[in-house]
Amino acid sequence: MADIFDKITELPNSKIKENTESLVGFEAKFDRIYGNLKLILSSEELKNWSNKFYKKELPIIKHIEDRYPLIILSGDVGTGKTISAISFADRMLRELDKEGFFLKLSTRVRGEGLHGEMGNLVNDAFDELKKQAGKRRIAFLFIDEADAIATTRSTSQMHQEEKAAVNTLIQKIDEIREMKGRAVVFMSTNRLHFLDEALVRRAAVILEYNRPDFDERRELFTKSLEGVKITEKELDELSQLTSDEQNNGVGYSFSDIRLRILPEAVASAFPDRPLSYEILCETIAKVKPSPKIK
Ligand SMILES: Nc1ncnc2c1ncn2[C@@H]1O[C@H](COP(=O)(O)OP(=O)(O)OP(=O)(O)O)[C@@H](O)[C@H]1O
Ligand SMILES: [Mg+2]
Repeated sequence: MADIFDKITELPNSKIKENTESLVGFEAKFDRIYGNLKLILSSEELKNWSNKFYKKELPIIKHIEDRYPLIILSGDVGTGKTISAISFADRMLRELDKEGFFLKLSTRVRGEGLHGEMGNLVNDAFDELKKQAGKRRIAFLFIDEADAIATTRSTSQMHQEEKAAVNTLIQKIDEIREMKGRAVVFMSTNRLHFLDEALVRRAAVILEYNRPDFDERRELFTKSLEGVKITEKELDELSQLTSDEQNNGVGYSFSDIRLRILPEAVASAFPDRPLSYEILCETIAKVKPSPKIK
């Protein structure tokens, strides 16, 4: 199994919860996903509800079961797709008062030269997913950067084996519907138009990720600079300096701020000076926003 998955994480997990709390804009995204998945994930309870109030299983329940437990996270680079997937899973299990597993498909699965094997690996991954899922346990599979493995089959340069792998993936997504809410698949992509149409059509939710707006950048600076002496007005300024208006139409991503600006500012201050608003401004002037993916 070590080759197929980067990591298998048991959930709920307190470290993940802590990480979730540092994410700006998480709640709204979670509500959207949970609102859509909660009925799919509560198949047993839904049947009980139907039997209690109608003394039978209503046809409407069957239609709910026909939906696919597939969520697509789509959007620009550095906007939080990879980091938030496990947080959604963790949070969902807490809401449902259940336990589960988060399986992250290894990037090795789509390495060069592995194409012939890709179909088999996808098969193995879903076999494991089924094995992990139990009555009170929900198994989550995360296929990060899914466009690399599930590229639209309409591209003519695509190899036969690659097409076969995409077909397998679609077939597996169809099969997990039979698991009645004990398995959920997340896929991320920053090129939704490259993802195979059949997969996109099956998604219960396609969640859009964008670079942060003024308020979100401000919140990110506020959260990240906790304990550093900085005024409210300076926080406004930092948010303004990293906006798209001030940077030729392309603002800073979450990742640009958290993984580039802030560490570099600390590096400038360390070891002789405290971190300051001035150092942050100088750093922003030096570090350019990452280019946008069209
Ligand atoms: N909502 C957020 N709140 C706070 N920090 C965030 C948020 N989203 C992303 N980040 C920061 O940006 C970093 C990069 O995020 P992540 O790797 O999830 O981006 P991504 O959307 O997967 O990008 P890519 O398309 O390049 O893979 C995270 O490690 C985190 O530090
Ligand atoms: Mg990512």
